Amino acid sequence: MVQVSERPGTAKISNLQDKFVYEIGVMYDAENRFLEAQQMMCQCCQHSQLKSLMENHIRETEQQIRNLEQVFNALGQQPRRINCDAASGLISDGQRFMLLAADNPKILELGLAAGQAKVEQLEISCYRGLIKGAEQMGQNQVVQLLQQNLQQEEQTAQKIEQCMPQLLQEAKSSSGTGSSKSR
Ligand SMILES: [Fe+2]
Repeated sequence: MVQVSERPGTAKISNLQDKFVYEIGVMYDAENRFLEAQQMMCQCCQHSQLKSLMENHIRETEQQIRNLEQVFNALGQQPRRINCDAASGLISDGQRFMLLAADNPKILELGLAAGQAKVEQLEISCYRGLIKGAEQMGQNQVVQLLQQNLQQEEQTAQKIEQCMPQLLQEAKSSSGTGSSKSR
């Protein structure tokens, strides 16, 4: 079990405002990690449609980080990252996959898209929760900033979903459905 003392700088949460600020800090960390991960994944992607989707979402993620900084501002807080283990976990899963699939670019791209889809789903559920919290606190400016982020995540998730059949088809033609070798 994680002890609070293992997370220096993490204050106790005793009311809804604390909870909200904590969750914004976690989201701020997640977006920063995802930005870095997307920049790396984009370099490994040769697929033009997926690559342009990623490049576009990198720019959006930069804007989302600025929006989160404005959220901190609106709450009278300094932007502060609180380690998001879910984001680190998704990123290290993705990195392991990239290493294992490095020999087949089409399989790699399919995996990159699937990884990105998981990230978007995580972000969507976090932003939906945060928007509810901001609404409860009557923080209209915060609601608007978070809604902008949510909309971009939803659109990206949808675009990835639309890309998937083609990526799957290309991966299938490049490798067949051959069964894996036993070791
Ligand atoms: Fe995203």
